[in-house]
Amino acid sequence: MSVIGFFLPPGKNGFGYSSTAETVTSGLDLTGKTYLITGCNSGLGLESARVLSLRGAKILGTARTAEKAFGALAPLGNGHKGFACELADPLSIRQCVTAVMREEGRLDGILANAGIMALPSLEKAYGYELQFFTNHVGHFILITGLLEKLVGNGRVVVVSSSAHTMAPAGGIDFENLSGDRGYRPWTAYGQSKMANILFASELARRFKGSSRVAVSLHPGVIQTNLGRHMPAVARFAFGMVGPIFQKSIPEGAATQCYALVHPEAGALSGQYLADVNVATPRKEAADKALALKLWEVTENIVGKIRG
Ligand SMILES: NC(=O)c1ccc[n+]([C@@H]2O[C@H](COP(=O)([O-])OP(=O)(O)OC[C@H]3O[C@@H](n4cnc5c(N)ncnc54)[C@H](OP(=O)(O)O)[C@@H]3O)[C@@H](O)[C@H]2O)c1
Repeated sequence: MSVIGFFLPPGKNGFGYSSTAETVTSGLDLTGKTYLITGCNSGLGLESARVLSLRGAKILGTARTAEKAFGALAPLGNGHKGFACELADPLSIRQCVTAVMREEGRLDGILANAGIMALPSLEKAYGYELQFFTNHVGHFILITGLLEKLVGNGRVVVVSSSAHTMAPAGGIDFENLSGDRGYRPWTAYGQSKMANILFASELARRFKGSSRVAVSLHPGVIQTNLGRHMPAVARFAFGMVGPIFQKSIPEGAATQCYALVHPEAGALSGQYLADVNVATPRKEAADKALALKLWEVTENIVGKIRG
């Protein structure tokens, strides 16, 4: 437990900063439920897969390659299934959608967990900045492709970050989605994470009138492979001060597991969560018109790539 975690009291629902994925799912029987998790081979995705399978759920896990996905799920026992889903490659995503649609049964939830952070220099996919493409556009293709497979009260949980506050002025810079007009690693990451919140918010609006749920969240700050692109000196400094505020991986996976499976979270569609409770994101993240615009722009991007 971090120093902060020791002092912070739990939130309204009794869970908080130091809750773990195991505590927030304690007593739940997920037998017969199926959850798709992106980025199941590392960090928070792997821990979420482990804990949900511990509660009896079947996991459909995606990773950049089928080998990585199968390798991660094999130790969790029988019945889970791995799929290749390279989120920067629409063809790979569509092949994953087709394969998942062919699976027997429905999905009880989708955890859009995979992500990349703060690439030191501009990289692109299909002309779009790579973090925006991977973290947002890739998940957009996957999730919209799988909605028919989602049960009537299914949940879509999108892992964002408090780093969404580093997004450019206005939240999304639609004139610079390529990054060509200027690139800053953290601004680009922040924009992709702002897009995650806006996507979940617009999806929740589209789910209105049904029992489906869409939420986004900040998991906390956790030492995982996500930091691989940070300069060595930054990683060192982070390692030194980390124990003050850093969550463990089991603590980091708590908010997303709660959002995906806890009965109470069925009432939270459209919300942004942190520390396993409802939280308030930056003002643009709550802008419904911006969320709709991003959805339409993303549909347009995806349509153009399809050709
Ligand atoms: N850790 C934190 O402090 C923190 C804070 C706020 C938000 N988050 C968010 O939490 C989520 C999980 O991150 P983590 O900390 O668990 O990091 P992680 O250990 O690096 O896991 C990220 C996962 O995403 C996968 N991934 C990356 N690029 C991909 C691509 N192009 N196609 C398919 N999969 C891809 C990775 O696959 P490979 O292993 O093959 O690269 C890995 O499985 C991310 O969305 C991140 O933005 C994390």
